[in-house]
Amino acid sequence: MALHPLVKRVLLTEEQIKTRVAELATEVAEHYKKNNIKDKDIVVVGILKGCVPFYAEFFMNFKQDVVMDFMVISSYLGGLKSNKQPKINLDLNSDIKNKHVLIVEDIVDTGHTLSFLKDYLKSRKAASVNVVTLVDKPGGRKIEFEANFIGFSIENEFVIGYGLDYDEKLRNLPYIAIMDTDKLKTWEW
Ligand code: PRP
Repeated sequence: MALHPLVKRVLLTEEQIKTRVAELATEVAEHYKKNNIKDKDIVVVGILKGCVPFYAEFFMNFKQDVVMDFMVISSYLGGLKSNKQPKINLDLNSDIKNKHVLIVEDIVDTGHTLSFLKDYLKSRKAASVNVVTLVDKPGGRKIEFEANFIGFSIENEFVIGYGLDYDEKLRNLPYIAIMDTDKLKTWEW
């Protein structure tokens, strides 16, 4: 398969992602079972838009009969750097009071978005708030934050694909790759 010209190096192939996501779904399901948490009390919250491919794959492997919900939060303002103040652009549909919320994210970078979100969901009286992220970029942290379940820990580079965007583009690459930012200077979309 030909790679997108803006790819510098593929970090995770489609196959590696699929295999790991299936494992993650089992790990998370076991966590809830072990803690005697029933399906009816679990709400799986995807943070749009980056989560979409991961959410779909995770949800199909997560053999629990649970509620789906979504939020839109923005923290990147279109470029390569993360803005510090996350903003809720779309809130939950469901009442999460006394529910066990599982946040599904594509990436944890500075930690600002997830830290803010966890506090927000706790303030809405969730019984618990856990985070599953496909990729974790510990080298990007600006504040302390640790996801409960992590697919892959990656180096501190700007990554694209499998939901991750550059300026809203390249989300539909089937793999996760480091972007060739030098090529951007002369790139025409
Ligand atoms: C991405 C990602 C997380 C956030 C993580 O979302 O989905 O929500 O950035 O970054 P942080 O740890 O530095 O806060 P983004 O705001 O790019 O929106 P998107 O999901 O629409 O791509």
